[in-house]
Amino acid sequence: MQFRLKIFLAAIFFSVALFSFVIYDSIAGNLSNVPSEAVKGKIVFQKKACIECHTIFGNGGYYGGDLTKVYEKFGSDGLREYLTNPPLLSGAKKKQHIYVNHEEAEEMIDYFRFLQSIPNMGWPPRPVFDKKKDSE
Ligand code: HEC
Repeated sequence: MQFRLKIFLAAIFFSVALFSFVIYDSIAGNLSNVPSEAVKGKIVFQKKACIECHTIFGNGGYYGGDLTKVYEKFGSDGLREYLTNPPLLSGAKKKQHIYVNHEEAEEMIDYFRFLQSIPNMGWPPRPVFDKKKDSE
């Protein structure tokens, strides 16, 4: 085998090995950083299909707004109250927001607290409504 070909194959082998290690390292690290309570809350989020109406990091339905940083807005007590004693939805006067029991609410709060700790640099941007335009 030519010397150049050997160098070329060695370089490819080295690159693939390095790439695999970097990918493995980033995934393994991230998974072990997620607290188990937050994982339970995520499962409730999936079971109850909150994603039908809400987005997390901009993924999901647009009816109910983004919940990535909702912990900042309500805190634990506010979220507990909202989820276990849900209000009527604005714009749909007879429809009440989905209810979750106390145990599920605690797990959801842990999930939202975990999401709060992820730096998302303001993504997704909050919708901006141009009041002047609306009133025209
Ligand atoms: C049928 C659609 C729908 C589903 C399903 C739904 N939501 Fe909502 N949610 C809404 C709407 C609409 C609002 C806004 C309420 C309003 O403005 O009256 C809202 C508001 C909220 C708020 C307050 C957000 C804020 O910024 O004021 C939280 C927290 C919330 N939902 C959590 C959840 C969770 C957790 C689930 C799943 C267990 C869920 N929602 C499932 C429609 C939904």
